[in-house]
Amino acid sequence: MYLTPEEEKIFNGERGATYQKAIEILIALGDIYDADRLIPIKSAQIAGVSYKTIGDAGLEWISDLKGKVAVPSILNPAGMDRECWKEMGISRDFAEKQEKILRAYEALGVRIECSCTPYHIFDNIASFGDHVAWSESSAISYANSVIGARTNREGGPGALAAALIGKTANYGFHLNENRKPDLLIKVDAKLSDSDYGALGYIAGEMVGDKVPFFRLKSRPSKDELKSLGAAMAASGAVALFYVEGVTPEADKYGAPLEIITIEESQIKEVYESPCQTPYLNTGSCEPDLIAFGCPHSSPDELSKLAHLLDGKKVKKEVWVCTSRAIKNRNPELIERIKRSGAKVFCDTCMVVSPASERFKCMMVNSGKAHKYVPNLCGVKSILARTGKCIEEALRD
Ligand code: F3S
Repeated sequence: MYLTPEEEKIFNGERGATYQKAIEILIALGDIYDADRLIPIKSAQIAGVSYKTIGDAGLEWISDLKGKVAVPSILNPAGMDRECWKEMGISRDFAEKQEKILRAYEALGVRIECSCTPYHIFDNIASFGDHVAWSESSAISYANSVIGARTNREGGPGALAAALIGKTANYGFHLNENRKPDLLIKVDAKLSDSDYGALGYIAGEMVGDKVPFFRLKSRPSKDELKSLGAAMAASGAVALFYVEGVTPEADKYGAPLEIITIEESQIKEVYESPCQTPYLNTGSCEPDLIAFGCPHSSPDELSKLAHLLDGKKVKKEVWVCTSRAIKNRNPELIERIKRSGAKVFCDTCMVVSPASERFKCMMVNSGKAHKYVPNLCGVKSILARTGKCIEEALRD
């Protein structure tokens, strides 16, 4: 891989051990995937934040790094709400370790915004055609597909290395030839709300890491595209998809010849079958937690929830997950949601926080959460439309 004289100096350790390690990671990735060079990036989104997932070893690794990121960089959700961790049921020991991780990232110049929806927070964090290094799978899918920016599925260390150097290796979805759609998925149903998560749940399992091109009978909103992409990235490894007549680059490529059709009955089946892993007992799933905000809720999604909850009191534990920036910018919506007894949590989510592990069955309106909650939290899950989730929350 070609290195500029400046990159050579970093590789030779002239800027210190942290930058040397960072460029070694980028070069190793570039060598594996046959990159010709490093390319500048606009921003980084760094996973590997929750103490639940990285533990003491991760904390130690980040704490040892010395330097500053070269581009705007934000974090993935952490294991707790930084202000309401007690209300979540998080232990003091966990909270202290989690804070140390966040402080270690902050010392590197990373903004302590912990969210999988950086595009809701900053207008210019990624625009059409920009190269970025993002590492949360739903954010990657949104960047590539809905914004038309370019990112690979970066691991946490790869994204942090890219943030420090301000560059990433030029391979994969950064290159035009790898962005062509592989197969056409015709959907024989009109979709809305969490139907898109259900569709993503099925489509991801079918296509793995291929690039699907959807022909839909309905026109999805940006939040619905977010939900579709998040579910496909969880049940498969989809990092880029197109929707005919909707997503920015769809017209450039056109529909591929290989075709799959998904029927309405297949979407209904996802709602009807609780997701459970072999080690969870089969049998009924009576929700004791209703959770929204996977990926983190947008202002429109908060508005919908506030409208459905106005003047009502929830009878079950209800969590609404969003970013702190979106919470702070929408105090009236947050107040309306909280008046119902629902809890609004920031900086974290129902999957990456250990706080959800004490529940037995979670009802969600997200195809991604439906896939991950049983596997990563050991909790059964039911997928339902947003309105049905609220009905369940209000039921004695
Ligand atoms: Fe985001 Fe957590 Fe879902 S990181 S996409 S809310 S699993």
